Amino acid sequence: MTTPKKLFIKTYGCQMNVYDSERMAEALGGSGYVTTDTPEGADMILLNTCHIREKAAEKVYSELGRLKGLKLDNPALRIGVTGCVAQAEGAEILRRQPAVDLVVGPQSYHRLPDLEARVRAGERALDTDFPEEDKFDKLAARPKARRGPAAFLTVQEGCDKFCAFCVVPYTRGAEVSRPAARVLDEARDLVARGVAEITLLGQNVNAYHGAGPDGADWGLARLIRQMARIEGLKRIRYTTSHPNDMEDDLIAAHGDCPELMPYLHLPVQSGSDRVLKAMNRQHTAQDYLRLIDRIRAARPDILISGDFIVGFPGESDEDFEATLDLVRAVGYGQCYSFKYSTRPGTPAAERDQLPEDVKSDRLARLQALLSAQQTATQEAMVGRTVGVLFEKPGRMPGQMVGKSDHLHAVHVQAGPEWLGRVAQVQITGTERNSLAGQLVAGQDAPA
Ligand code: SAH
Ligand code: SF4
Ligand code: F3S
Repeated sequence: MTTPKKLFIKTYGCQMNVYDSERMAEALGGSGYVTTDTPEGADMILLNTCHIREKAAEKVYSELGRLKGLKLDNPALRIGVTGCVAQAEGAEILRRQPAVDLVVGPQSYHRLPDLEARVRAGERALDTDFPEEDKFDKLAARPKARRGPAAFLTVQEGCDKFCAFCVVPYTRGAEVSRPAARVLDEARDLVARGVAEITLLGQNVNAYHGAGPDGADWGLARLIRQMARIEGLKRIRYTTSHPNDMEDDLIAAHGDCPELMPYLHLPVQSGSDRVLKAMNRQHTAQDYLRLIDRIRAARPDILISGDFIVGFPGESDEDFEATLDLVRAVGYGQCYSFKYSTRPGTPAAERDQLPEDVKSDRLARLQALLSAQQTATQEAMVGRTVGVLFEKPGRMPGQMVGKSDHLHAVHVQAGPEWLGRVAQVQITGTERNSLAGQLVAGQDAPA
């Protein structure tokens, strides 16, 4: 038997990269690789990169600079760059860093086994095409290994929205949805391997419109309702959504599909109509607030999260105040917020930029407000009973950690038999980024 080669993948960026890294590891499994947790001793290192904000590419080059020394110890080591920096920079990476053997963009991962064979033979390889075929169809069949309780499943890729600040439409290409039957097969396979919660992924996941097995066009709500029928699948989530794609039946599903968890990531970016227009978001602050009302009417306890950008070109103090007003009006459970970062090739990069200190000041003020809202949301959970899916042992003896219906991390005194099971947990306290709870009495872990 030949000894397996070792594969180390470092993943940056969004959940879609996490999912892609898993699929790449599986695809290279077919070429004799097993994954390892350290770059030292690896035969193949892949950096699965993100290009969303400035310095992302620079971070990749400095990481490559550190890793190239490993080739001295192991001449058989091959180094690859995948993901959105690979797509954006392409051949430039091969030029700038001679230690790189392989550059592969996100739509070409199904070609990895061939590319691996080429770099193994000493070639340097570049593939940043947007091929016609579905990369997920062609990626090697999953090995039937057991999985942790929660899994990602990409159903939609790419983006046609072209927000003025964003690189995603360029790095991931046009919106494409996978056929519903493929997604459902993959979901059934995951459940058979121990998965109890699936998070459907897409850059604009609620723009999902896949071919249904009946030949009809299926929206995300229909896909979710069908998926909810899979025996053993306890929970469904989806991310990330765009406000303009929140269709009526998806909102309704939040009210009547118990498997669909009460958490929604719905980025708005700004609360100023002027800025929203300059960002090409195609909706107003009012549109967003009305939408939140309708979602909360369907599912009153839903936890809303979001993303914000401060310091977008042309953002005035007044515009920024409008963002704070919107945040106060919504009451978020959890948010990500960023200083606007200039991305070459995007329309906003050409505009007059705000000074760095203005951006920093606004970010600090916004984050103080968001953090107070997060604390208040967590405190409001105390005393409530929620479902928790246990994912791993906690740091304390006898403790398990899981995620609540509302996606809070929860620490509970519970035995290992609860791993992968959902329990009813009463929330007893809150810490900075997690909750504490206790099992509601009289429950046994289901077989
Ligand atoms: N498709 C998702 C988000 C994709 S990127 C959506 O439309 O909501 C994730 C987040 O990164 C965005 O929501 C935005 O807040 C942030 N982001 C994207 N480009 C950025 C830039 N140039 N500068 C700062 N933040 C950015
Ligand atoms: Fe980027 Fe806008 Fe597309 Fe989201 S919707 S991925 S922010 S262009
Ligand atoms: Fe980053 Fe690409 Fe995801 S730019 S956020 S890894 S789609």
